[in-house]
Amino acid sequence: MPISTQPARPRLSPANFLFGVAYYPEHDLPEHLEHDVERLLAAKVNVVRMAEFAWDRMERREGEFDFSFFDFHIDRLGRAGIKTILCTPTEAPPMWLTTNYPDVLQVDANGRSMQQGSRQHASLCSPRYRDFSRKITHAMATHFARNPHVIGWQTDNEIYCHTAEDYSPAAHVAFREFLSEKYRDIAALNEAWGTNFWAQTYTNFEEVLPPYAMRPSAENPGHRLDFLLFTSHKAVVFQRDQVEILRAANPAWWITHNGVFRNLDYREFSRDLDFMAVDVYPMLAFMDAPGELSPAKFPSRLLARTRSICGKFIVTELQSGPGGQLDWMSATPEPGQMRLFAWQGVAHGAEGILHFRWRTCRYGAEEYWEGVIDHDNVLRRRFEELCVEGAEFARLAPILRGTEVRPEVGVLFDMGLMEFGHRPITHGLPSPWDVADGIFTACSAAGLNVGYVHPLDSLEGCKLLFLCSNAIVTAEVVAALTRWVERGGTLVILARSGTKDKFGRVVAATPPGLLTALAGCTVKEHSRLNSPPLTGSPSITFKWDDQVFSENLWREVLETRGGAVVARWREGRFVDAAAAVENQVGEGRCFYIGTYASTELVSGWLALLMKNTSVKAIIPGIPPGVEVLRRTGEGKTLVFVLNHTAEIKKIANAPTGEHLLPGVETTDGVLTLPAFGVALIRS
Ligand code: GAL
Repeated sequence: MPISTQPARPRLSPANFLFGVAYYPEHDLPEHLEHDVERLLAAKVNVVRMAEFAWDRMERREGEFDFSFFDFHIDRLGRAGIKTILCTPTEAPPMWLTTNYPDVLQVDANGRSMQQGSRQHASLCSPRYRDFSRKITHAMATHFARNPHVIGWQTDNEIYCHTAEDYSPAAHVAFREFLSEKYRDIAALNEAWGTNFWAQTYTNFEEVLPPYAMRPSAENPGHRLDFLLFTSHKAVVFQRDQVEILRAANPAWWITHNGVFRNLDYREFSRDLDFMAVDVYPMLAFMDAPGELSPAKFPSRLLARTRSICGKFIVTELQSGPGGQLDWMSATPEPGQMRLFAWQGVAHGAEGILHFRWRTCRYGAEEYWEGVIDHDNVLRRRFEELCVEGAEFARLAPILRGTEVRPEVGVLFDMGLMEFGHRPITHGLPSPWDVADGIFTACSAAGLNVGYVHPLDSLEGCKLLFLCSNAIVTAEVVAALTRWVERGGTLVILARSGTKDKFGRVVAATPPGLLTALAGCTVKEHSRLNSPPLTGSPSITFKWDDQVFSENLWREVLETRGGAVVARWREGRFVDAAAAVENQVGEGRCFYIGTYASTELVSGWLALLMKNTSVKAIIPGIPPGVEVLRRTGEGKTLVFVLNHTAEIKKIANAPTGEHLLPGVETTDGVLTLPAFGVALIRS
């Protein structure tokens, strides 16, 4: 299993704005399909996505391929000008495959094999499954290579949506190969994992197992960190098999994959792709955290995160109706909300929106995951809304072209080592992913032009950056951040950053280790604040510029190393000890803050952090439940204002310019947005 060193290739883009639906003719009654072409055209759909769950139809028996069903439907739509994105169908292997070759099934951490009858149960490491994956991909690729209606591909479907870690015999072999390639010498692995703790020294790679669940006490964190990195990497290797076959068959096809989930380093994964894709189900947010803001916050972060992976993305599945599986169901989007979600995707930079799904399936685990058209094939308000969207995107696509989101405030985020570095030992504290989300939410609620940014990407255009309690910060990242600060940036470093090396071992230097020169301080002492804490108070407080903030997770006592103390603790033994330090570095500044950052804390700090920067809100003072975003490029500035609430919202300080969407108005500088309304202003 080689570790990827493949350089990025020039990336392809969709030729035009993609607007469409996930299309499953294999689930429909023939009479229901009859009027699809005219209906899709009425909604100005220009693309559909097909076949990700149809392996059983394309290879009914091993080695017997038959693509006539999809030939027919691709052609039927293609003749009307509707293009197709095809998918490799490997998320759901056919029954003959898992029955005849049960060794392709995944195994869980307790050593129990998965069973067929759902999806995502095959092992991505299984040489046999990889072979079947290559064969179906090759058969599809060569068959459709000259089909003018097929414009691009989605590999597999939502890898790691349900399960990621695999403990099968095949995964065991692949894990060992991964480790021996990474460390070469078992002594290096022993050193990296600190195996002399609890007598775990290995004498050869053969002795290393996946980190099974059956252990009486805590596992070795270095072992877990490598298993996380391996788990991510095995998806890269599995996908690469398919990508190579597709590219060889037709180099003009673009290739994408729909994420975004927590166990994959999409930066590595997307190097083989042309752009990322994401599936967005905003109503699910209501189920976890009811409240007016939930549907705004959750997809907003998901979309922004997807954008940050390679700068370009489409939405492959966007909620249309209510959704549910066996024992749960989300609410139905209100009138206008489906269109709002579509514009939210575009506001975050999406170059295409495909709704899930065209017609609701009448059977199966998702018989109530409702699409644009209901079970009875009768057109209702969701179809009408689709037509509104289609007409708007068709009209505005030329204006959107050439514009993108360019964040001014960057929340530093890496889905690989910097995130996985937290997981082996969490101490019950939030991961960098969660810290980043809290900061993103605070900045977004303040109307800032905020995005997730990888520290090794170009940081140009960013004026304020947050380093989100990332224990592992490599020398390369420190060097990149230092260069950026020296040129005038403002960097905020949060507690515990820089405390570990790339193997997850605590650094020997005083924290924040390699970040000390930037931070202008070191950490003298730290404490986890448990609830109720030994000190008796539910949280501790610190004072910054006459404002008092409460922290209830973590306290660091700082010692300056050239920086100036800007905040001090107020209680207990450490009254008046430094809680935050500001440090001048070249033309820029760095704040080290010895606490974890919640949304509330960052909201309170924002004005202090933004002082002396030129960061300005896109629209200052936006009311709760309203989201504001900006796309720029080719001399155009497009401001999107989205009302995620069921009430009319009045927005003062709205930018002046041409309104590109109907139903909103600006009078005396006050923009009035109807419930679930969207404004698009070209300024
Ligand atoms: C996605 C998946 C689809 C469908 C949809 C609704 O996760 O890609 O196949 O399951 O959600 O659940």
